[in-house]
Amino acid sequence: MDYRVADLTLADFGRREIALAEHEMPGLMAMRETYGPQQPLAGARIAGSLHMTIQTAVLIETLVALGARVRWASCNIFSTQDHAAAAIAVGDGTAEAPAGQPVFAWKGESLDEYWWATTQTFIWPGGELPTMILDDGGDATLLVHLGAEHQKAGTLPDPAAAQSDEERALFGVLRSTLQDGTVDWVAVAGCIQGVTEETTTGVHRLYQAARDGSLLWPAINVNDAVTKSKFDNIYGIRHSLIDGINRGTDVLIGGKVAVVCGYGDVGKGCAQSLRGQGARVIVTEIDPICALQASMDGYQVATLDEVIGVGDIFVTATGCCDVISAEQMALMKHQAIVGNIGHFDNEIDMAGLAAWPGVRRTTVKPQVDEWVFPAGSTESGAEVSEHAIIVLSEGRLLNLGNATGHPSFVMSNSFTNQVLGQIELWTNLDAYPIGVHRLPKHLDEMVARFHLASLGVHLSTLTQKQADYLGVPVEGPFKPDFYRY
Ligand code: NAI
Repeated sequence: MDYRVADLTLADFGRREIALAEHEMPGLMAMRETYGPQQPLAGARIAGSLHMTIQTAVLIETLVALGARVRWASCNIFSTQDHAAAAIAVGDGTAEAPAGQPVFAWKGESLDEYWWATTQTFIWPGGELPTMILDDGGDATLLVHLGAEHQKAGTLPDPAAAQSDEERALFGVLRSTLQDGTVDWVAVAGCIQGVTEETTTGVHRLYQAARDGSLLWPAINVNDAVTKSKFDNIYGIRHSLIDGINRGTDVLIGGKVAVVCGYGDVGKGCAQSLRGQGARVIVTEIDPICALQASMDGYQVATLDEVIGVGDIFVTATGCCDVISAEQMALMKHQAIVGNIGHFDNEIDMAGLAAWPGVRRTTVKPQVDEWVFPAGSTESGAEVSEHAIIVLSEGRLLNLGNATGHPSFVMSNSFTNQVLGQIELWTNLDAYPIGVHRLPKHLDEMVARFHLASLGVHLSTLTQKQADYLGVPVEGPFKPDFYRY
């Protein structure tokens, strides 16, 4: 059986939701219609690591419709929608005789299972090797880089030297593949032509690898397509942040004080989302430009320590580490809600929380935990009475852990960029030397165009005289690359 999902009998439910999502994903459907006959991805074997949701199912089936073969895993232990995974595994077969795509994803994986599943995307039948990675957060890319590095050097990663539970699991799984030879990581690295990366944090890792000279392939930074980060990271978050808080806690947001850490694209979406519900939003920032933006958008900007005792809801959206400490959680109000919406779970010090003397954890329901602090004094000498906080998704991205992530329409923008990125790297590789690239602006504008009609948008057209006056072609691109939207 070349898949592992929670329950194949959920496939019909998944298929019904995929059909609804297709209607809301005009960009992906236009890609199928426009490029389907040409089969631009014929021969491509894509190892995918991206939240296995209904929207991702439409992405997967678009890649397949364009000629690719795929193997898929989720990029987070909590983000899979089991009915979406089942529908992909079953394809046009039945639960008894699945005939879909190899998918290795279920909600609530352990960290070991997570890295096992990611590894499966690189093990192709008949000794074939993957030719491309489609990544979200950079874990699949990291796995191949690390595997090839160790295999070449004849070394093994040492789980005892890991800095986190996540790394310990990665080292353990990688070590066993190197010991038993299940994956020839050097051959995999050699066969891969390139990677397209979905999110800010993954892109950040790619630029770091390019800077230190370790990046093995050309990479396309999908995140910084305007039709990705200025839509998914803002409007997608505006929808899915409160969805996660509501499904997790059902607490009334209006009138509460919500603290948003980080005022980048995601932070801006969070702040809008919470303000839209009537919360009083406070922002924390380290960048003076973003802090000034937040202030001019009408938000109080403060340090976390200044507002730790007044916030009812805390959301981290920084892509940084160590944003909320255990000490700070101990100083929060009774039943303050704490969640992260950044890519990795290192924004909130969950290890420090678990190690807090006398702290007790009660799971209210999956992905919602109450942590009770005993009365006592904190390290800094503050006296606290017994009180609890509510932590969502164990500090992992709450919109996908507690809810279903962004809705289809916004993901259609992001994923159309993903498909275009895959086509570019597969059919036009010479244009992309090793390094990190963005898609050309005319493709960004094309993605936006695909989404106008279903919203009833009527676009104005420049006359030739106006176009000459602005110095742009009538049909675009309309803005220079440095324009920020
Ligand atoms: P960004 O770089 O635009 O914004 C992050 C902001 O946080 C920056 O303005 C930065 O100055 C600020 N910041 C950094 N460290 C800070 C600290 N210690 N305290 C306060 N502010 C701090 O990045 P973007 O696009 O907003 O993404 C943020 C995170 O969200 C990334 O990890 C990204 O991968 C993830 N993401 C998650 C999504 C989801 O569905 N959950 C969707 C899109 C992105």
